[in-house]
Amino acid sequence: MTVQTASLAGLDLRAEIDRLRKEKNAVILAHYYQRPEIQDLADYIGDSLELSRKAAASDADVIAFCGVKFMAETAKILAPEKTVILPDVNAGCSLEDSCPPEKFAAFRKAHPDHIALTYINCSTEVKALSDIIVTSSSAETILQQIPREQKIIFGPDRHLGGYLSRKFDREMLLWPGVCIVHEAFSETELLKLKAQHPGAPIAAHPECPPAIVDHADYVGSTSGILNYAKATDADTLIVATEPHIIHQMQLAMPGKTFIGAPGADGNCNCNVCPYMALNTLEKLYVALRDLTPRVEIEEGLRLRAKRSLDRMLEMASGTVGKGDLGAR
Ligand code: 13P
Ligand code: SF4
Repeated sequence: MTVQTASLAGLDLRAEIDRLRKEKNAVILAHYYQRPEIQDLADYIGDSLELSRKAAASDADVIAFCGVKFMAETAKILAPEKTVILPDVNAGCSLEDSCPPEKFAAFRKAHPDHIALTYINCSTEVKALSDIIVTSSSAETILQQIPREQKIIFGPDRHLGGYLSRKFDREMLLWPGVCIVHEAFSETELLKLKAQHPGAPIAAHPECPPAIVDHADYVGSTSGILNYAKATDADTLIVATEPHIIHQMQLAMPGKTFIGAPGADGNCNCNVCPYMALNTLEKLYVALRDLTPRVEIEEGLRLRAKRSLDRMLEMASGTVGKGDLGAR
């Protein structure tokens, strides 16, 4: 989408967004990887699971989703009666791109005795082909409810899948997708940084490759990393995930120091998610004003995708019994 920024000159965007939010009964949901100026005016900031829950529970007429497409689609799947807008429709995700539905369907067909445990970072079509969705914060709880003898396909993030497989000693067939942002951290540069700050623990997202995760003192979702930062006694923390989350850390803990883990040359911007960065205040304003770009999902597809998401929401809160799963 091209926003005519010239015509927005002179507008107080924050005040205008605030006016439109009230006028349209809209709620602004933002992921931790959004630009600080978007985080600052959001009604809720959270990780993928928290934002899904907020979308499902919201009584707003409009959800302005400041995140990426699969997150906004999840909101629409769970709250179909609401108008869901995404400031930039091109805000995709490399994990989603790595997993075309027709290839995923063929992979499933080749392994009929496996269930598909699928990371939420995928298309609605892939959710519809899956048995249970997980987020980084719910994956461990959900995996532990699946009987050990049940064979599992895990996609599309091979690093999250590999991490779970090692931690719980469970073999899983891994789809070969990666997050381009977390893949770009450098072990060598991380070790140099650690040598400069020997007392600083490392907190890493499980989308990081094993060479990074193996050095981490804590591994968890964006919310998990934020909570760890609050709980640790250390006054300096090395953060191996998308660096915009550091904004919330600085707001909550102004006395602590947070250092983003480095990329390949120690000084690149390669750990900023280029998709998340597409959303701007200007685009959010236009989206709220015009109620577009809108997320629309064909009803049959939505209902098929909702099954695997509902299972996640149930299992993440422990309400589904242990033997309740089966291959599709
Ligand atoms: P979280 O669920 O931990 O917020 O992760 C979402 C994501 O896209 C990480 O790259
Ligand atoms: Fe996708 Fe990675 Fe961006 Fe998260 S950080 S939205 S996984 S590309």
